Amino acid sequence: MINIAVMGYGTVGSGVVEVINTNGARINQRIGDELNVKYVLDLKDFPGDPVQEKIIHDFDTILGDDDIQIVVEVMGGIEPAYTFVKKCLQAGKSVATSNKALVAAHGAELLSIAAEHNINFLFEASVGGGIPIIRPLNSSLTADEIEEITGILNGTTNYMLTKMFYEGADYDTVLKEAQANGYAERNPEADVEGYDACRKIAILSSLISGQQVDFEDIYCEGITEITVEDMKYAKAMGTTIKLLASSKRYAGNRLHAIVAPCMLYPEHPLYNVNDVFNAIFVHGNVLGDAMFYGSGAGKLPTASAVVADVVDAAKHLNRNIMTMWKEEKLHLEDKADAKRRFFIRIKGDAGEMLPALKESFGEVEIVEVPELKGEFGFITPVMMEGDYETRSKLYKDQILHMIRVEDQK
Ligand code: HSE
Repeated sequence: MINIAVMGYGTVGSGVVEVINTNGARINQRIGDELNVKYVLDLKDFPGDPVQEKIIHDFDTILGDDDIQIVVEVMGGIEPAYTFVKKCLQAGKSVATSNKALVAAHGAELLSIAAEHNINFLFEASVGGGIPIIRPLNSSLTADEIEEITGILNGTTNYMLTKMFYEGADYDTVLKEAQANGYAERNPEADVEGYDACRKIAILSSLISGQQVDFEDIYCEGITEITVEDMKYAKAMGTTIKLLASSKRYAGNRLHAIVAPCMLYPEHPLYNVNDVFNAIFVHGNVLGDAMFYGSGAGKLPTASAVVADVVDAAKHLNRNIMTMWKEEKLHLEDKADAKRRFFIRIKGDAGEMLPALKESFGEVEIVEVPELKGEFGFITPVMMEGDYETRSKLYKDQILHMIRVEDQK
């Protein structure tokens, strides 16, 4: 029998217990042994829930029990998760987690402790919910130099943007719906300000570079400024607006990483990724393109990935699955040097302003939404972001909003 402990009985923790109860027989077949949830650690009690007989409140019960070989951490947040996970690994217990904040901040260190003890620290559920992406990067795509990862990595904001785009729904209503559906973080600021997607792209960037990419170094812009008017321009241009988290390789191990709302044309593989779904587009130098698509948030999809990690840990009880992610920090390229087109909404009259705009930005393309009076939009040619910033200063009192355009290469 393989005994495990689950730390945290919230949305994902209860999902983990449910997945094991629902698919236990099949999971046991795959492990070749019987998986047993011995403890569930939580601050609260759950009277009336069958899990109550396993509930414990003291972490040391798990740490001190040599029967526990695998620990699931689904508490979220850095502390006490970090301290608990580190102690478990140092005690020779493998850990499976969905905690992206923990992985983004301490992934390299926790992986190296796991390697020292010949056990595993696994975190498939920390990016893309139920979509396999960590394991593919670690095993299936190891023949490639990954040149680009661009993803819709946050289910809450994708759900919100989809409803705003297709149904003209307002921001506050759709945020409440996402929270009611259990997609949003406890503090939804992490979703709407892009921080959640930023931690996830930091994890993916660390994996493709093999070095530590700090999420604090990644330029991050959320969806709080996206308005109904922006959506109207997007429609007029035949585009949609998505919150993209992207990491692109320039020469060698140099990455440009960014999280920002972007306009996408229908040819872009991420254009049709709607609702709570996530997708990760990967371009490898020998693979070419690949897309990973599926349920990116929510109780059971996330729990599915956590339990799959438990199965993997059970199959490799005394063998470390090597993951290349060193603690050495990777310095990201300056955002000012990234090249793209920009969509700008500006106050004024298109006919009158066109000559000046052409002089400043080059061959711009005008976009008009007849019902929006006293303003218009334009798209710049491809330019460096630093140049855009310099030139747009001339119009700082007129510019209403800038949204980046993500062209498919
Ligand atoms: N709040 C996150 C999301 C949960 O909406 O994607 C999954 O990480």
